[in-house]
Parts: sequence; structure tokens; C-alpha cells
Amino acid sequence: MRDDLNPLFDYAEALSGPVPEYLHLLVRETNLKTLSPQMISGHLQGRILALLSKLLRPQRILEVGTFTGYSALCLAEGIAPGGELITIEGNPEVAWIAQKYFDASPYAEVFRLQSSKAGEYIENQLSGHFDLIFLDADKRNYTNYFHQLIDRLNPGGLFISDNVLWDGRVVDPEDKEPDVRALDEFNRMLANDPRVETVVLPLRDGLSVARRI
Ligand SMILES: C[S@@+](CC[C@H](N)C(=O)[O-])C[C@H]1O[C@@H](n2cnc3c(N)ncnc32)[C@H](O)[C@@H]1O
Repeated sequence: MRDDLNPLFDYAEALSGPVPEYLHLLVRETNLKTLSPQMISGHLQGRILALLSKLLRPQRILEVGTFTGYSALCLAEGIAPGGELITIEGNPEVAWIAQKYFDASPYAEVFRLQSSKAGEYIENQLSGHFDLIFLDADKRNYTNYFHQLIDRLNPGGLFISDNVLWDGRVVDPEDKEPDVRALDEFNRMLANDPRVETVVLPLRDGLSVARRI
């Protein structure tokens, strides 16, 4: 059953929190000003991202796919003092909303919003290692991003990927839609890569959490 029709999802969301007030405002502005507001992570997934980040206390976070900044703001809640969160967004029509909310948040100094195509930026300009990587951009490139980034993830670090079940469609071998097949391949590749241990959570559109061994 779709989350938005499932009363259990509403129940779980209502009892997970607290959610900072600026995230409620961001959801509202995203609904009013963007063409695909459903891309936002949402409150339950946002609380999971914030909790994982608070448990890990990452020094450096990389996000691929900022949109209006919801998930980046959640991940920033756990960042270690003096830490840095680089987030890459290719669409300037949404990135300005993210920047506005980053600047007004309690974590303003940690954000580095990069307006670029992610693959090129990672290949040519990104430097250093990370403790937490969150993939939430073009699904067909998830496997490429993994290969580009896995050696930049510190041992014990988390590689988190969103939308890995693509509305449940990954289990249907007859579904030949390219995003579906790319995500199925990505999930199988992750499950078989000895550098990570992975859990696929059937939350919302599917969230996988892989820990660098
Ligand atoms: C699902 S949304 C991200 C949602 C966001 N993480 C959140 O939780 O609110 C995906 C975003 O990735 C961006 N994107 C897609 N492909 C990209 C690429 N190759 N480089 C940079 N950004 C990309 C899109 O413009 C879109 O804003």
C-alpha cells in the first residue's frame, strides 16, 4: 500500500520527532514553489536520516541531489563540531530555496551547496574523504556514483541511498523501465560488494543503508 494511503505510516510519522519548525516551513514552500514537491524526503525519512547522523557524528557528509534542502538539513543535525556538508544540485531553480533555508538554519556554517552536475563534479573537483554519503539524484547513475565514491568513504561510514525500491517495481522482472532495472542492478551490486554490509529498508520508496567495512 502507498505510504500516503496507509494509516500506519501516518501514525508512525505523527509519533516520530520532534521535527524542527523550519522543516515544516520548507515543506510548505517546496509545495508552493516547485513542480515536483513529492521528491522531498519527508518527515519520517528525515527523522531517520537525522537519527543516523546523530549516532554516527560525521565530520564530513556528501549528499548527491539537494532539491530544496530537506534531507541535508536533517543530516546536518548530527554533524560533528567543525564539520562540513557538501551537497550537489544540478537544478538552480530549486537550489536557491535550499540555500535560503541553509542560511537561516542553526547549521548555516556547515553547508557547501555545489551547483553542478554531480558526475562531473565528483570526478573533477571533489576532494577528501567522507563519513556519510547520501545518494538521492539520478537513479540510473547510482551504480556509477557508488564506484566513484566508495573509496572516499571512511571505514565505519554510511552509504545511504534513497528510492531503491522505486514504488515496489524492482521486484517485477517484467518491468523494463530503465530506472527500475538500474535500481535493481544497484541493489544487487551493493548486496554483493564485500566492502559494505547493507540493509534495505522498505520504508517509503525504499532506503538502503550500507556500512563501509
Ligand atoms: C529526489 S530529489 C532530492 C531530494 C532531497 N534529497 C530531499 O530529500 O529533499 C533529486 C534531486 O537531484 C537532482 N539531480 C538529478 N540528477 C542530478 C545530477 N546528475 N547532478 C546534480 N543533481 C541532480 C534533481 O535536480 C533533484 O533536485
